[in-house]
Amino acid sequence: MKRVLITAGPTREAIDTVRYISNRSSGKMGYAIAEAAIEQGWKVTLISGPTNLPTPHGVTRIDVDSAAAMATEVYRYAPEADFIVMAAAVADYRPVQTFSGKIKKNVTSFLLELEPTEDILATLGKNKRPNQILLGFAAETSQLIEHATKKLKRKNLDWIAANDVSRSDRGFDVDTNEITLIPRHGAPVHIPNDYKLAVARRIIAAIQ
Ligand code: CTP
Repeated sequence: MKRVLITAGPTREAIDTVRYISNRSSGKMGYAIAEAAIEQGWKVTLISGPTNLPTPHGVTRIDVDSAAAMATEVYRYAPEADFIVMAAAVADYRPVQTFSGKIKKNVTSFLLELEPTEDILATLGKNKRPNQILLGFAAETSQLIEHATKKLKRKNLDWIAANDVSRSDRGFDVDTNEITLIPRHGAPVHIPNDYKLAVARRIIAAIQ
């Protein structure tokens, strides 16, 4: 039985005990891919940032909050995975310091210092086993194919799902998506705007 590791949802990077930096990811695309993989009869581990979604039947789900916590869980399960799909919208930056307690508003301006998080997908690309298939997502608002192709090469991936997130009817936090699936070798596959489960089934069919 093929084993697939999927990440989904946003991450939360804590500023203090009650505040965080995050993004608009709902997790719907990653959860749809998990469901489509279950339909294929694959064994699915889903590492999920905070979402309001139910766990698809048959999926083993591990909940995380920060990019660092997601990295730890991904590296734990990656060695045994035949396919890895990084659909999570991992934060690129996190606060250098997390304050304990709630920061009081007693200053006129407030500068928050950020540092880069680890690029989980790039690390997976560096340590990829032969025969392990790695699929990343590229959320772009301009030059979709050029930017996505650069990411595919830079992170040593087999596939990248290029996602135009500049339009409100597809991508972040909606039920539909349109993707161009770019392989390392060969011609890109365009998946027209459709429900995320339908798009997910086509992604799974392609990587199979
Ligand atoms: N990703 C990751 N770890 C991070 C950031 C992103 O694993 N710290 C993964 C995402 O899950 C996604 C892919 O990398 O599959 C796309 O990441 P993105 O942030 O869009 O690419 P970058 O290389 O950071 O490029 P840029 O932010 O300049 O667009």
